[in-house]
Amino acid sequence: MPVKEQLIAEGLRQKMCGIFGCVLSEGNAAPLIHSSLKRLEYRGYDSVGIAVLNNGKISIKKDQGKIDEVHKIHNLDDLPGNIGIGHTRWATHGAPLKINSHPHTDCSGEIVVVHNGIIENFLDLKSELQNLGHIFSSKTDTEIMPHLIEEALKQNPQLNIQQAVQQSLKRIEGSYAFAIISTREPDKIICARNESPLVLGINHKGVFCASDIPAFLEVTNKAVMINNGELVILTNQDYEIKKISDGSTITREPISIEWTAEMAVKQGHPHFMIKEIHEQPETLRNTLRMQDHYLDLLTTFLDRANEVFLVACGTSYHACLAASYMFSKLAFLPTYPVYASEFLEQHGKSVNIDSTILAVSQSGETADTLAAVNCAQQRAATVLGLTNVIGSSLTRISRVYIGTQSGPEIGVAATKTFTSQLSVLAQLALKLAKKRGKISQDEMDTLEEKLGQIPEVVNSIVTSQEQKIQQLAKKYANSKVFFFLGRGISTATAFEGRLKLMEIAYIPSISFPAGESKHGPISLIENGFPVVFVCPKDDTHKTVIGNIMEMKARGAHIIAVIEEGDQDIKSLSDDYIEVPKGIPSVLTPIPYAIPLQLLAYYTALEKGFNPDMPRNLAKSVTVK
Ligand code: F6R
Repeated sequence: MPVKEQLIAEGLRQKMCGIFGCVLSEGNAAPLIHSSLKRLEYRGYDSVGIAVLNNGKISIKKDQGKIDEVHKIHNLDDLPGNIGIGHTRWATHGAPLKINSHPHTDCSGEIVVVHNGIIENFLDLKSELQNLGHIFSSKTDTEIMPHLIEEALKQNPQLNIQQAVQQSLKRIEGSYAFAIISTREPDKIICARNESPLVLGINHKGVFCASDIPAFLEVTNKAVMINNGELVILTNQDYEIKKISDGSTITREPISIEWTAEMAVKQGHPHFMIKEIHEQPETLRNTLRMQDHYLDLLTTFLDRANEVFLVACGTSYHACLAASYMFSKLAFLPTYPVYASEFLEQHGKSVNIDSTILAVSQSGETADTLAAVNCAQQRAATVLGLTNVIGSSLTRISRVYIGTQSGPEIGVAATKTFTSQLSVLAQLALKLAKKRGKISQDEMDTLEEKLGQIPEVVNSIVTSQEQKIQQLAKKYANSKVFFFLGRGISTATAFEGRLKLMEIAYIPSISFPAGESKHGPISLIENGFPVVFVCPKDDTHKTVIGNIMEMKARGAHIIAVIEEGDQDIKSLSDDYIEVPKGIPSVLTPIPYAIPLQLLAYYTALEKGFNPDMPRNLAKSVTVK
């Protein structure tokens, strides 16, 4: 099977997605599920599905496409029954096809499941279940859940549905929010949570479960938050929360949600950009759940390439620039980061059958990136893709692609997709280093461990530095111009910080590798000129100190992003932002980009601009 089809066929996992379920005391559930899924569509819109229980039978409607498109064909409202579940999907691996749309069922069609999350051990569980005779009709990880429940009930017919779900959950590794219905107990929904969000809504008409509050906010503002490791039984006008581990009951009263519907979509944040900055610990956790064999496939192509071009625009180009350091330092693979808009002029004639192009694009639709990729493809080069949108043009053109699993990014300025790109590229560089025998097992283990800690590091930066950065934004918002400088891999981080500030706060900003300053740009420096230095404690540290001193001697105001407790740079800086210690140099662009994203965001607010909609810019740039 060609590699691309293999990827499509094998990997169907979804990260973001929206789930909804309701038990109504009267009336049909389907129209409410439909309208609630519409309010969750910002979480994904690749496919949609609804399952409803009526007179002990379950009916399902599902298809690929946006909710309105699927509704036009199937009339999602036309399903009788007062209990039901629904799903809107954001594919992260594999094609957004009807067979992979939720809900999914067991062999008998009596157990029906919707899911948001990633089941990491699904391949093992799937082969175990297949050996026991279970027939799977999709390639998703989700489908193992109804079969696990079916198997639990087969092995022990005394179990009730809640016990069978509880037993099945104990076999699952990964993240999930499930909603499950069954004809065996047609008066209830069972839902459960680990890491993926789940919240209940309550009113006199019924009980609801959803990925997010906006799903039911028009019906009720009484909500119950469900925590990791909890299972809930929803029945008419009631809910019972239990611990998955031991089945013990937990009492939790509803709270009143004061958000407007618009605020709820942004989870209480005033803008999508800040919501997406805050989401990064979660999105990074997801990129770390990438199945090894996708990374291995890409690594194989990179390993056999004669020359590798990393092609992208804007923020995605900065991820490529950082990746060129990762590939070189870890795997000893020289790569060429190229602005996609320059690729044809620079390499269009020389790219050939021995070249490999790794195109990086959040949207997968950027015209310049696609033009570069098309040119390379026509000249028989191998095209690999890294994108956040499965089903985008880039995934169709690429021989092999990987999804960055960030969920939809709505703010125009890229934030969470950038750090996810970096995380995947770092994983690729590590795999390649291992394949080529360029790093020892000990180094590999340490780097993998450190990579695993990055989501928590990012979380602690947001928690501990956000207020301080807000103050810095106030202090520097009226500056006429900024420098952003770094050395080594931090050059890429500095480039990204400069782009963020420029595009949303409209402050002209200049960025170049710090060593270049004395070759010209330093002539701009005068008293009070703000210079942001990105300076992790890596091999460049000493030289960066020299660069800081050069700037300081000419009156620059130094704002340094430093490793926690770095007294040397603290003493030279006017202001500093601290990042936790011990991050290997090749991984620093991920955490060190966070303060720069926050600085840009709060500076835009200080200046009265809407960071979600910067002037003259679009989320997907489809013109050359
Ligand atoms: C900046 C930004 C843009 C994009 C660029 C490429 O915040 O979002 O610079 O990075 O337009 O877009 P994609 O990654 O969709 O190819």
